[in-house]
Amino acid sequence: MTDVVVVGGGVVGLASAWALARQGLRVTVVEPGPLGGQSSQAAAGILGPLAESSADGPLTRLLWASLERFPTWVAALAEDSAADPEFETRGVLRLVAPAQAAAERASMAWRTRYDPAVTWVEPGGAPPVPEGWAAAIWSPHEGQIHGPRYLDALLQAAVRRGVNLEVGTLVTALEREGDRVVGVRTDHGRIPAAAVVLAAGAWSAPLAATVERRLDVAPVRGQVLGVRAPVRPFDYVLFAPGAYVAPKADGLLVLGATEDHSGYDSRVTLDGLYTVARRIAAIAPDLLRLPFDRAWSGLRPGTADGLPYLGRWPDLEGLVVATGHYRNGILLSPLTADVVTALVTGSTPPPSYDPAAFGPARSARTPGSPDEAAR
Ligand code: GLY
Repeated sequence: MTDVVVVGGGVVGLASAWALARQGLRVTVVEPGPLGGQSSQAAAGILGPLAESSADGPLTRLLWASLERFPTWVAALAEDSAADPEFETRGVLRLVAPAQAAAERASMAWRTRYDPAVTWVEPGGAPPVPEGWAAAIWSPHEGQIHGPRYLDALLQAAVRRGVNLEVGTLVTALEREGDRVVGVRTDHGRIPAAAVVLAAGAWSAPLAATVERRLDVAPVRGQVLGVRAPVRPFDYVLFAPGAYVAPKADGLLVLGATEDHSGYDSRVTLDGLYTVARRIAAIAPDLLRLPFDRAWSGLRPGTADGLPYLGRWPDLEGLVVATGHYRNGILLSPLTADVVTALVTGSTPPPSYDPAAFGPARSARTPGSPDEAAR
């Protein structure tokens, strides 16, 4: 018997499952491949709400709230697991291109409302602004986490709290009775449940379609490569349009990342690695001389409007959607788990959660959608 089925064993699914199990619910996670085997394993683990935002809005507020949630979240995780996820807030340096200097300078007004410690750095300042960049924005309280170790910690914690893991099982459809989702159908049989959490990342849209609901989620491949230094050359995250360096404590430097619209093809390509290397040459050319460690990739769940789907359809009971986190699944995992838990248990979601902005019903309003064109 299970109370909640979580469809998808990535970082969002596991975080939600662990949080629900901590509330005493019986939870089953269903995952066809390895746990976290898609975008979660590819993630650089950057926790950069301001770095990832070019304008303020509901997503920036959610990202920032999730960053603020991280310290208590990882402290609770440490009670339920032995893995150290290497949560760090040593800062993120967002580089500013000459063409963007005026707009980015103006953005300091809203950035400093999140954190008055955010500063504008001119060339010659600290941390250093690489040659060719007009300036940088230093955000000292953002940071990073070690993606694979964080996944491991969530997995251990979920198991410790009694979450049932159905790995190697494919959910083929959500099961509906009238206006209620009552479980899932899988290639190994049915799993009835009082609530279903759809956290299937780039695979969520076809599953929503099985209950005649629309989600504009599509895969966006990210290719990443790693180089190794004997000690990390700096301990903050270096971030620029289309490129970043996330230096891990053990000397691995994660260099990313492409945003390829290549369907469900998750392979690494030479073109992708060339693109990453070329962009890194513009922000940290010295790193290209370090020994190559490995390259990998994952399919991010991108959405048509760039916002995650977090919430429920008002006319469909029993289904909570938590998908479309695109570049920020790891960063949003604590807040997402809080929202999912609130929606499943009927408690009040965190105030930073805007149901109108993130609820799945907005798909019908997506510009260019068939619904929009019909109006
Ligand atoms: N969060 C960085 C990326 O998706 O590449």
